[in-house]
Amino acid sequence: MVFELTSIFKDYMQGKEAVPVLKDISLSVDEGEYVAIMGPSGSGKSTLMNIIGCLDKQTKGTFIFDGADIMSCSDKQLSEIRNNKIGFVFQNFNLLPRQSALENVELPLLYAGVSKKQRRERAVAALKRVGLEDRMLFKPTQLSGGQKQRVAIARAIVNHPRLLLADEPTGALDTKSGDQVMELFGELNREGVTIVMITHEPDIARCAKRVMYIRDGQIHSGAFNTRTETAEEPAAEEASAT
Ligand SMILES: Nc1ncnc2c1ncn2[C@@H]1O[C@H](COP(=O)(O)OP(=O)(O)O)[C@@H](O)[C@H]1O
Ligand SMILES: [Mg+2]
Repeated sequence: MVFELTSIFKDYMQGKEAVPVLKDISLSVDEGEYVAIMGPSGSGKSTLMNIIGCLDKQTKGTFIFDGADIMSCSDKQLSEIRNNKIGFVFQNFNLLPRQSALENVELPLLYAGVSKKQRRERAVAALKRVGLEDRMLFKPTQLSGGQKQRVAIARAIVNHPRLLLADEPTGALDTKSGDQVMELFGELNREGVTIVMITHEPDIARCAKRVMYIRDGQIHSGAFNTRTETAEEPAAEEASAT
């Protein structure tokens, strides 16, 4: 088990009023899974991602990540979990603009206290893994969108995290670059990386092995992706779910 959410609620305060955004979400993810969380804009996907990524805490419910009860963790413990156990991929890459691809990928290792020599070796290996060995010294402004996202993926996997967590990883990319990123996610998952990916695009969600649908802060259906034509609509997924 990588993580388990049980009856998770999340409210945001608007003035004195609590606005419910996540309403009774339960979800568990095992090692080696590849899960897509789909839903329309405003349905609570990023709110859920922030909780799974230990960036924010739920209002109510239990969240266990790699054996730790997140609600009772200190900020320091949470940042250790984020640095050591979770690789993040964002829609807009979140790379440091003045640093080279190599330096960006080395950063999580710096926070983790890895020696300089080790940092360099592991960052080079991660950049090779995503096919950017010839772009290591380029800065983000010198890279295409697809290349920037591959740098971000190298940064996300350089620490060998328990979970690769991606929020709309293809949202800022053209179709071809998006497909390349999905190809890379597929390869990484086959190599054993656990992936949770948030998207509102059905074509992207279809790349995962399991798809969950969230609407108005609730999970509506989830099924293992059979990769057949009938697996396209939530209703069909529900019908074929066992
Ligand atoms: N920090 C916040 N404070 C108040 N409301 C928020 C905050 N973040 C998100 N929301 C609200 O919560 C709902 C879900 O947002 P979000 O999780 O970003 O949805 P999605 O990622 O699916 O588009 C939206 O109605 C949004 O306005
Ligand atoms: Mg979002």
